[in-house]
Amino acid sequence: MADERSYIMIKPDGVQRGLIGEVIKRFEQKGFKLVGLRMLNVERSLAEKHYADLSSRPFFGSLVDYIVSGPVVAMVWEGRNVVVTGRKIIGATNPAASEPGTIRGDYAIEVGRNVIHGSDSVENAQKEIALW
Ligand code: PPS
Repeated sequence: MADERSYIMIKPDGVQRGLIGEVIKRFEQKGFKLVGLRMLNVERSLAEKHYADLSSRPFFGSLVDYIVSGPVVAMVWEGRNVVVTGRKIIGATNPAASEPGTIRGDYAIEVGRNVIHGSDSVENAQKEIALW
């Protein structure tokens, strides 16, 4: 579907490290269209909602602490298969497993500071775009 959309978020470490341009460049070069962008400091309640599915996981508290630790860049990207292809551009969740050439493979070494979030399904993308 040509107008598929994904929610992509540059996390506080990505913003602090000056990776906003690099992330946008990679999605633009692939051919995706940026249709929304907002830089914001995240309320704790919003971070908790976004990661609600993980609320029983032992790392939930530190994940929320991390997301509220500084500004994020919340974006909506559009294009054919942007959800699946966006996840490939981002790389595996744990940077120890993400391939060189992916964003996490090139710029991250630990899962608790992995630079970027991307929706994992079209359904979750719709929910996340509505939430953010
Ligand atoms: S799951 O349920 O274990 O498969 O979760 P996963 O899809 O791997 O990861 C979901 C999000 O949780 C983040 N995550 C962590 N954050 C901090 N510490 C630890 N140990 C940790 N493990 C997973 C992971 O980065 C995912 O965040 P997003 O923003 O969705 O990429």
